[in-house]
Amino acid sequence: MPMLELIATATFGLEAVVKRELMHIGYTPQSVSDGKVTFEADERAIPRANLWLRSADRVLLKMGEFPAGSFDDLFEHTRALPWSEWIPLDGSFPVTGKSIKSKLSSVPTCQAIVKKAVVENLKRRYRMERFPETGPSFPIQVALLNDTATLTIDTSGTALHKRGYRHGAVEAPLKETLAAAMIELSYWNRGRVLVDPLCGSGTIPIEAAMIGRNIAPGSGRRFAAESWPSLTQGSWKEARMEAYQSIDQEARVRIIASDIDSGAVRRACENARQAGVGGCIEFSATPLHRIEMKEDFGVVITNPPYGERIGEGTEVKKLYRQMGRIFRANLTWSVYILSPEERFEKLYGAKADRKRKLFNGSIKVNYYQFYGPRPPTHVLR
Ligand SMILES: C[S@@+](CC[C@H](N)C(=O)[O-])C[C@H]1O[C@@H](n2cnc3c(N)ncnc32)[C@H](O)[C@@H]1O
Repeated sequence: MPMLELIATATFGLEAVVKRELMHIGYTPQSVSDGKVTFEADERAIPRANLWLRSADRVLLKMGEFPAGSFDDLFEHTRALPWSEWIPLDGSFPVTGKSIKSKLSSVPTCQAIVKKAVVENLKRRYRMERFPETGPSFPIQVALLNDTATLTIDTSGTALHKRGYRHGAVEAPLKETLAAAMIELSYWNRGRVLVDPLCGSGTIPIEAAMIGRNIAPGSGRRFAAESWPSLTQGSWKEARMEAYQSIDQEARVRIIASDIDSGAVRRACENARQAGVGGCIEFSATPLHRIEMKEDFGVVITNPPYGERIGEGTEVKKLYRQMGRIFRANLTWSVYILSPEERFEKLYGAKADRKRKLFNGSIKVNYYQFYGPRPPTHVLR
C-alpha cells in the first residue's frame, strides 16, 4: 500500500501527548510542531488513528505543501495535486482556510481559489463541467503560514472530542480530548483508585474508565472518511473489529466520581452508561468536604470551577483552599488540578511539582501536578 502523509492536530500544549498516543498504536511521528504531529503510514492508519487517538482534535490527510507567494502560485499548485485519487464524481468538497504571517491574507479569496483549482482538476479527470456534490464529504483546508500553503482533507469530519457519549453536560464541561490528556499526563494506572470530586458531567472519570478498559475513544461515533469510496473496502470494518476485540472487559478499574450538584451526577451517570463504562465508576452527589480518600496511593484528577462569573471569585478561592486542606492530608496521593488561577498554589497551600501550560478552549490554564510517593510495585499494574 502506498504511504500517505497524515497530520494529527492537537491543542497547544498537547502535541507531545498525541505523539505518544501515535507511537502507542504503532506509528512513528516524523515531526512535531505547533498544534500538529505529522506521520507517514498506509491508508489503514486513517481508521485506526481516528478510532484510537484520545487527545488529538482531527486526523488530516496531507495533499501537498508548497510556497504560495501569489494567488497564481496557489491556484497552479493546488490544481496539480491528485484530488481525483480521493474525491469521487459526486463527492462534496467544502473549503475552509486560515492564513498566518502570509502575503495571501484574504482567507475567503484563498478558499475560492482552492475551490476553483480543485474543480478544474476534477473536470479534467471526470470530463464534467459541474459537480453535484451530493455524495460523501471531503472537507478541504488551505492553511497558509509564512507564505507556505498546506492543503489537507479532513478524515475526521466532526472533531474528535465529540465521542458521542455526552448528551447531558454541565455549564463548563471539559473537552473529552483535554480530559484524556490530563489522565495521560498523570501517573495514574488502573491499579490505583482515581477520584474526581468535582466531576460535573463526568468527562474525566469516563475517559479514565475508557483508558482502563482499553476502549477506543472513537468507537461510538462515525467519521468523514468512513464513507470514502477511495479507501479499500473493509478497512474501517477491520479497524472497528480490532477496537472491539481490544476491549478488556475483565479489567478491574476503580474510579470514584462525585459532585455537589445531584443533577450533574445524574447526567454523568447517564453519559458513563452511554460510553459503556457505567459499571466502572462509583457516582455520588457529595460535597467536596465529605469525600473519602480511604485507600493509599490514589490519584485525584479534577477540573474545579474557575469563578469567571461576577461574584463567584470568593467562593472559588474558598473551594481551592478547601481542596488544599483535604488533598494535602492524604500523603500518599497524587493530585492533578486544572485551573486558570495564577495564585492557585498559594490558595491550595503547596507548590506544584510541575506546572504545565494548557488551554481549556480559549482560557489559558495551568495543569498543577502534585506528585505523591511512588506506589509499591504490586499497585503498579
Ligand atoms: C468546571 S465544572 C467540572 C466540569 C467537568 N470536568 C466536566 O467535564 O463536565 C466544576 C464542578 O464542580 C462542582 N462543584 C462546585 N463546588 C463544589 C463542592 N463544594 N463540592 C463538590 N462539587 C462542587 C460543580 O457543581 C461543577 O459541576
